[in-house]
Amino acid sequence: MRIDKILPPAVAPIGFKDIARGILSMRQGNRATAAFTDTLKDFFQIKYCYLLSSGKASLALILQALHELHPNRDEVLIPAFTCYSVPATIFRVGLKIRICDVLPETLDFDYAELTEQLSAPRLLCVIPTHLFGVTADIPKIRKTIGGRDIPIVEDAAQAMGGERLGQKAGTMGDVGFFSLERGKAFSTVKGGIIVTNSEAIGQALQRQVEAIPANSLAEQLALAMYAAALTVFSRPWLYWIPRSLPFLGLGETLFEPDFPIKRLSAFQAGLAAGWQNRLQENIHHRVKNSEYLVRLGIQAACSPEVLSSGLLRYPVLASDHAEKMALLQESDRLGLGGADVYPGTVEAIAALKNSLVDGTSQKARSIVARMITLPVHPYVTDRHLHRIAELFGKAAGIGGTCGEYSE
Ligand SMILES: Cc1ncc(COP(=O)(O)O)c(C=O)c1O
Repeated sequence: MRIDKILPPAVAPIGFKDIARGILSMRQGNRATAAFTDTLKDFFQIKYCYLLSSGKASLALILQALHELHPNRDEVLIPAFTCYSVPATIFRVGLKIRICDVLPETLDFDYAELTEQLSAPRLLCVIPTHLFGVTADIPKIRKTIGGRDIPIVEDAAQAMGGERLGQKAGTMGDVGFFSLERGKAFSTVKGGIIVTNSEAIGQALQRQVEAIPANSLAEQLALAMYAAALTVFSRPWLYWIPRSLPFLGLGETLFEPDFPIKRLSAFQAGLAAGWQNRLQENIHHRVKNSEYLVRLGIQAACSPEVLSSGLLRYPVLASDHAEKMALLQESDRLGLGGADVYPGTVEAIAALKNSLVDGTSQKARSIVARMITLPVHPYVTDRHLHRIAELFGKAAGIGGTCGEYSE
């Protein structure tokens, strides 16, 4: 067992004061969540905003609302490489999945294939994803859709507070959602936010949300205890403790369609107090650390313009799988927070055998084989980044081209 400073791959710090505010808010019930909703509407300049128990719960509601509006359409188009939570949610609500390949250099769609997949007659919506905080090119997707009525559901689970060309992630599509889970841009331990300006979608969502239960008092107290544990154990000098407990499954990616669908609790709304400043503070660190990695010669697998919006995790492509594994092993040994990405493409998820309609993932497979992410969160210091750069220098010595990759 390793007892040493170990960086988590991603963390949005929560303080004990925030937890205390959350506990005090429990008595306020719906007033606490309504106050949080108002600040979100103001910040994102949106008409409809709903707070749920997770990003998955948010996406489930969005899909159900869209299906209510378009009952004859039952296929959802997603990137071939994305968080397993996305296909798990589509599976959960009983819809079919189409995939579109993703380019390793940009983490964005392969547009030649996107054009073809968008012509499917039963398509309910497309879900572009701001993976690792790399903002997807929503205007380009909108242009590719043309005049057809195919709603864009923006998966901004990992990109709260991010922007592209002055537009806020989550608000560029027809409806968007964020995750407030630990390790996201801003966290209330767990949680999800839906935002939309569309009258039709907003009203359909309202009908869905009304039928959803809230957390019980016991569930809120369990969340408060979990928040306290996270506050303590996500610090680099204590992170080795949860990391050494295999049953916690830290860093594991599972396909889990059986998740609860509830409203965000008053405890979590209270925990979010002052979220705008805390989010900006997190983004400030992530931008500064990303820019420093660039100066140290480590190139991100995305277009350079998106760095200024604050990556959640800094994606890097090794020259091949062997170099990726060598980098991960060395990063692990030194406790530098380098992390693997999702273990396979959507196509590789066995449980989806009967739910996948069409699509390719050849380029996405190269992401799985070669990509790792580097930490840029507020606990990362310049010294950590220098040690990461040294690691990459060594990897280049192994025979790779990491940090200078170009296709
Ligand atoms: C891209 C993406 N979409 C959706 C989700 C689901 O969010 P949650 O974990 O809050 O359910 C996640 C969570 O990791 C994610 O990374």
